[in-house]
Amino acid sequence: MKNYTLNNGVKIPVLGFGTWKAQDGEEAYQSVLAALKAGYRHIDTAAIYKNEESVGRAIKDSGIPREELFVTTKLWNSKHTYEEAMEAFDSSMERLGLDYLDLYLIHWPNPKPLREDGAWQKRNAEVWRAMEDLYQAGKIRAIGVSNFLPHHLEALLETARVTPAVNQIRLAPGVYQTEAVDFCRAHDILLEAWGPFGQGELFQNPAVQAMADKYGKTIAQIALAWSLQEGFLPLPKSVTPSRIASNLDCFDIELSPADLEILKNISGLEGGAPNPDGMDF
Ligand SMILES: NC(=O)c1ccc[n+]([C@@H]2O[C@H](COP(=O)([O-])OP(=O)(O)OC[C@H]3O[C@@H](n4cnc5c(N)ncnc54)[C@H](OP(=O)(O)O)[C@@H]3O)[C@@H](O)[C@H]2O)c1
Repeated sequence: MKNYTLNNGVKIPVLGFGTWKAQDGEEAYQSVLAALKAGYRHIDTAAIYKNEESVGRAIKDSGIPREELFVTTKLWNSKHTYEEAMEAFDSSMERLGLDYLDLYLIHWPNPKPLREDGAWQKRNAEVWRAMEDLYQAGKIRAIGVSNFLPHHLEALLETARVTPAVNQIRLAPGVYQTEAVDFCRAHDILLEAWGPFGQGELFQNPAVQAMADKYGKTIAQIALAWSLQEGFLPLPKSVTPSRIASNLDCFDIELSPADLEILKNISGLEGGAPNPDGMDF
């Protein structure tokens, strides 16, 4: 699999395997094992997914050398002080069974209690300092954020010593966050696309089906090709072995500029991009 190069020079496989809602235990373990067997080399998890232990076990049992893998996890909202972030990192590493991490992300910019207290900027600066310290100590190869809009990034950049390498946001055909995309591109922050299948909604969309028929590919493969041609890093999730394997068959698709635009603008998806400033957590 090809790589993107992050703004600190670290290489990252252009597509990652999503694990949200993969149940801890057999489901998460078997799906990550199937993904690694199928050729994925980049796994995306998070402390809040509560499956880091199963993900770590699958990584170990795959027998793939650690340096050939790229592993991401995320800091959850309840850990937004310097000390809590340090402890949360250690706990994630213990559950994953790893001695270094490839990418650590702040999961959300503004947990509800901090938003209500007007404290999210200060706390993000504090948590970012913890992540910078871990990065500079060599425990993490790259650090980034998730679900950050431009005003969250601007606030973070006021005190950051290290520019985030990644912003992981919801992006898919029909779900396009123009301002965040433009801001990240201008600051050399790689965009990772969570929910690349519209969290499953794309599979019922007639316009995407028509595109799949036109190219002789599946809806999933078309959605991933779109993401890659936009320069995003898609994170497809599946716990179904046949889908895990077939989703990877997306690298030979060349969507025309007109079709890229059609996909960008498709309508009919109910679950658009969440507004982090209005979430109930
Ligand atoms: N940073 C964040 O806040 C955030 C938020 C959400 C997600 N994420 C990350 O992004 C990853 C992907 O997002 P997501 O899991 O929400 O949604 P998604 O990848 O867009 O969609 C997953 C759904 O698509 C189904 N699917 C997968 N391949 C398919 C195929 N070929 N044909 C038909 N159905 C197929 C899966 O079913 P089966 O599993 O049953 O096969 C599952 O129901 C997550 O797993 C997580 O790692 C991050």
